[in-house]
Amino acid sequence: MTFQDQIKQGIPAELPSIKAYNPTINHAPKRKEILSKAEKELAIRNALRYFEKKHHAILAKEFANELKEFGRIYMYRFHPDYEMYARPIHEYPGKSVQAKAIMHMIQNNLNYAVAQHPHELITYGGNGAVFQNWAQYLLTMKYLSEMDNDQTLVVYSGHPMGLFPSHKNAPRVVVTNGMMIPNYSKQDDWEKFNALGVTQYGQMTAGSYMYIGPQGIVHGTTITVLNAGRKIAKNGEGLAGKLFLTSGLGGMSGAQPKAGNIAGCITVCAEVNPKITEVRLSQGWIEEKITDLDKLVTRVKKAKRNKEVISIAYLGNIVEVWEKFDKENLYIDLGSDQTSLHNPWAGGYYPVGISFEDANEMMAKNPELFKEKVQESLRRQTTAINRHTAKGTYFFDYGNAFLLEASRANADIMAENGIDFKYPSYVQDIMGPMCFDYGFGPFRWVCTSANPLDLELTDTIACEVLEELKKGSPKEIQQQMADNIQWIKGAQENKLVVGSQARILYADAEGRMKIAEAFNNAVKNGKITAPIVLGRDHHDVSGTDSPYRETSNIYDGSQFTADMAIQNVIGDSFRGATWVSIHNGGGVGWGEVINGGFGMVLDGSTEAEKRLKSMLFWDVNNGIARRNWARNEGANFAIKRAMEVEPKLKVTVPNLVDDSLLQDLF
Ligand SMILES: NC(=O)c1ccc[n+]([C@@H]2O[C@H](COP(=O)([O-])OP(=O)(O)OC[C@H]3O[C@@H](n4cnc5c(N)ncnc54)[C@H](O)[C@@H]3O)[C@@H](O)[C@H]2O)c1
Repeated sequence: MTFQDQIKQGIPAELPSIKAYNPTINHAPKRKEILSKAEKELAIRNALRYFEKKHHAILAKEFANELKEFGRIYMYRFHPDYEMYARPIHEYPGKSVQAKAIMHMIQNNLNYAVAQHPHELITYGGNGAVFQNWAQYLLTMKYLSEMDNDQTLVVYSGHPMGLFPSHKNAPRVVVTNGMMIPNYSKQDDWEKFNALGVTQYGQMTAGSYMYIGPQGIVHGTTITVLNAGRKIAKNGEGLAGKLFLTSGLGGMSGAQPKAGNIAGCITVCAEVNPKITEVRLSQGWIEEKITDLDKLVTRVKKAKRNKEVISIAYLGNIVEVWEKFDKENLYIDLGSDQTSLHNPWAGGYYPVGISFEDANEMMAKNPELFKEKVQESLRRQTTAINRHTAKGTYFFDYGNAFLLEASRANADIMAENGIDFKYPSYVQDIMGPMCFDYGFGPFRWVCTSANPLDLELTDTIACEVLEELKKGSPKEIQQQMADNIQWIKGAQENKLVVGSQARILYADAEGRMKIAEAFNNAVKNGKITAPIVLGRDHHDVSGTDSPYRETSNIYDGSQFTADMAIQNVIGDSFRGATWVSIHNGGGVGWGEVINGGFGMVLDGSTEAEKRLKSMLFWDVNNGIARRNWARNEGANFAIKRAMEVEPKLKVTVPNLVDDSLLQDLF
């Protein structure tokens, strides 16, 4: 059967043969057993809804086994035989170019070279799912292959509810992931309802089909490391010879060593998982692997002496490195952590002193003990970090809930006022005031031709647009513009593509609109050979309400509200997005954040031009307006500038209060 026919058939009428479990690829850890007997039966009943009755007897047993063995029902048997990657758009069956572009994006999210646990449909972050099971994937692809431009596919946490009549300017797909009644949003609720097959954790870009491999994050990480370097520079010197210690070589964390190289420092990144370490080595994202702590110390000392730009993976636990470098008095200039602490009890964080294999076993068989070990490890890690910061290390939280989980583990991590943490998050100190408040965020695009030459051309176009804009930019954003131009100029040379022909480029509202318009024109006049998909990470100005990350530099109390993310996605959906998504839990954990995103197809048409202008303007300025209302200086500047450009924009600006007035009130 051809690839197109396989897509069109959806769930096959006859059962495909059972697939052997492939131990050579990276699999999701076994999830803990959480369902009662009655709930397990419900999970099987739920899973069987996708299949004709005649298959139920066989599948019931098979799914029960999956539930027992892996803690979830993935329906492995239905994993398609064709290769999973983002094909050139014309290879997808269907009537709607927009729907075909979405298929391109979905397959990229599940590509073996891109996804963290491809057979479990997990793209990154340990639990960031595109779908819960293979039936959902097959059915979604089928719907996309048959839909028209006056229909909208509705997706509930991976489950395609169906095609509904709409109109040509409506989104083709509306996705919700993990949206819960607020009282049911604890970590164990995810375990339970995900095991039942009724919800999923979509992370940020996994469940919204917008993940573009680690490149997406390399850029943001480079900006973060560069600016962290600027913060610690005493005389404006660069990062040469300075040491950056961190952890994780996974989906996003794997970008750190590459970013460290681009920023020009020595990066040591600890990773406990040998398979992932090998993948990063073979991709060239790290240059050296060391398994012995003494050798690591010797190597780092040499790198410091020679001011090398080098990235080193330490295969082992990060806690060991913090402690060893303290003992050896090895000075760390910049420190962070990117273990997946948004998911601490199910494989996101491996406790020190226990082997990787034993930890995997313990988290499934003895979750209570595992939790104790994680918390003990976090206390040890914090103590070691505190010793380093006392010597001058600049430590920042990398949005992985390290500070939050360390505080929950009663580590010595609270500031003297008992409210704040001892250390800032990278958003509080760097990304918030320097980027988000001015509207700069992780704008990205994908060439659906899958042709590297198209990508090269888009890089040139984007660079020209930014260089032109920089000439008239105010001084407040000159540094951002310069960093982004430098990034796009080096993008080809840095060989950042893994999976689809995609590019990330931080840009503000004006930059995003002007670049998108130039792309649409290039598609129209045939210079670019197929439509371009625009999107962004949810980790942006407007898309995400997350009090310990994206909105951690909001200080008016509203950081615990989620109005902005909801407004964002509603607004995008009626201003022309091709698909929209709203998620519970991306990045920092289930119940801790609401995040929304969009995808937009530029097919060279006049309608696409109207849509991009209307939607991108809102998509950025919605967040700037809110940041301005929270009294953030940069955002106040940026929103006033936006109002000058667009007279139809009228935003409420705050009046500032003299501190002296508040002193004797209570
Ligand atoms: N890169 C960014 O810009 C960014 C931004 C915001 C948040 N984050 C957060 O960073 C975290 C990591 O994301 P990811 O996609 O890389 O997740 P991931 O799960 O793919 O990778 C984390 C890695 O850490 C390793 N690890 C866990 N405990 C360890 C330990 N004690 N010592 C050494 N290694 C250990 C795991 O084996 C895993 O490979 C997430 O919580 C994510 O939300 C990243």
